[in-house]
Order: sequence, then C-alpha cells, then structure tokens
Amino acid sequence: MNRAPLIFLGIFFAIAFSWTGIILTNQISYGSLTPYVNADDGKAYPQSVPGDAARGKLVYQDLGCIYCHTQQVRQPGFGIDIERGWGERGSVARDYIRESRVFLGTMRTGPDLRNVGTRFAGQGGREWHIKHFYDPTITSAGSIMAPYRFLFETKAIIGDASPKAVQSLLPENHQPVAGSEIVLKQRGEDLIAYMLSLKDPELYPEEATKVYVPKAEPAKTEHGAHGAESNKEAAK
Ligand code: HEC
Repeated sequence: MNRAPLIFLGIFFAIAFSWTGIILTNQISYGSLTPYVNADDGKAYPQSVPGDAARGKLVYQDLGCIYCHTQQVRQPGFGIDIERGWGERGSVARDYIRESRVFLGTMRTGPDLRNVGTRFAGQGGREWHIKHFYDPTITSAGSIMAPYRFLFETKAIIGDASPKAVQSLLPENHQPVAGSEIVLKQRGEDLIAYMLSLKDPELYPEEATKVYVPKAEPAKTEHGAHGAESNKEAAK
C-alpha cells in the first residue's frame, strides 16, 4: 500500500499546526499591538529610549546581565514580584513592542530590572549604580554580583582633575593612589543610562481592570492564606 499521501498529510498538518500556534497566533496578538497614547500627557507608551540608553542595552547584552536578571514583572498570582517592589503592575506584551530584542532573562538570581529606573532615578540613581558596578558590596552588603570594574579606568591626573572623576563616591579602601583618579568609561555611562531608562509606569487600558491592590495583612504562608480564605468561606 502506498502510504506517501498519508505521510505527506501528516507532515503538512504537523507543520501547519505549529506554524499557526507559534507564528500566526503571536503575530496576531503581539504584532498588532500599537503604542498607547495617554490622553492626559499626549505621550505614546511605551516610550522609546534615548540613544545612550540604546547603546547601554548592547552593553547589557554583551556582559550577560540576563543570566542573573529578568525584565518581566510577574502578574499577581504568579509570583511575589509586586510585593517585592519590582513594579506596580505585572509586565504585559505591549511593554516590549519597541524592542527588537527582548531581554526577559534566564534566571532570577538578582532582582528583576524592568523598573529599576524608578527605584534608582536621576543623579542619586547614577551615583548608586557607579558604586554598585565598582563594588556591589558597597551598596548591597554580602552581594554575590560580580564587580564590573572594567567599566572604570584609573589614570594619572594630568593637569586639572577630571570633572567626571568618581572616586569621591567610593569608600576609603577603593581610593586610588595619590595623583590618580577613577573615571567611568563611556560603556559604563551608557549602561547606567540604560538602567535609568528602564521603567514601565503606564497602565494600559487592557491592564486597568487588573489593578493590583495589596492585601491589608499579608498571610505568612501559602497554606496560611488558603486556610484563612476557607475559614472566611466557612464563617459566611
Ligand atoms: C551572578 C549573577 C549576577 C550577574 C551576572 C549580574 N547581577 Fe546584578 N545583581 C545580582 C544580585 C544577586 C543582586 C542583588 C544584590 C545587589 O544589589 O548587588 C543584583 C543587583 C543588581 C542591581 C540592583 C537592583 C535592585 O533593585 O536592587 C542592578 C541595577 C544590577 N544588579 C545590574 C546588573 C547589570 C547591569 C549586570 C550586567 C552588567 C548585572 N547586574 C549582572 C546578581 C547578578
């Protein structure tokens, strides 16, 4: 018996189903998303990032930060990211539409960085990152994150000291020898610009119904929470 047509049909449907599932449904749900224009401020969200932050994103990619950091705040019920202060809402597909490469990350060894720009903002934020990249234990006692000291350069002061010197932010044990200074390289500046740009504050229409209201009294354990719920049910 000639089974060729059956085999052909089997292969055809296997490919057709996976193409529909993986490519077509994603194209329909994700590809059709457009920026959301907020009527109050007239801005289109998510906003595009400035050039130095876009360069910083390449540094982030280059240095493999994704191996320890995610950029996806899990929805309530799928983790405790919001309780941990990693965002005011869970991440949605629309957050990523301006990114040709999305860094969801591989492991949550360090905090989620999707909204790190709201936790450390402005000049104070920049200074925090400088200390942290030079030696993470300066800002975060016992941190297991590696120092990224190659983002800095220690050089002799020739003429006037650089206005960009950063050693005044560092503790005693990291001071350079007299006559030299520590400056942040352009790669480091770009990486920090990227960190400061990471924030998803906007609440899109599809999210408005899912506003997260923190529980008044957080339950101690998973079981405790269920127990309390069922007790409440029983009391009704
Ligand atoms: C070996 C895993 C690891 C790698 C790789 C790593 N980190 Fe971290 N990172 C951590 C851990 C753990 C913390 C929490 C302790 C701390 O603050 O240092 C952290 C904290 C941070 C924080 C502070 C976040 C907050 O909300 O407190 C930032 C910002 C950060 N990392 C940026 C980076 C960047 C940028 C890179 C790549 C250049 C990177 N990390 C690579 C593990 C890592």
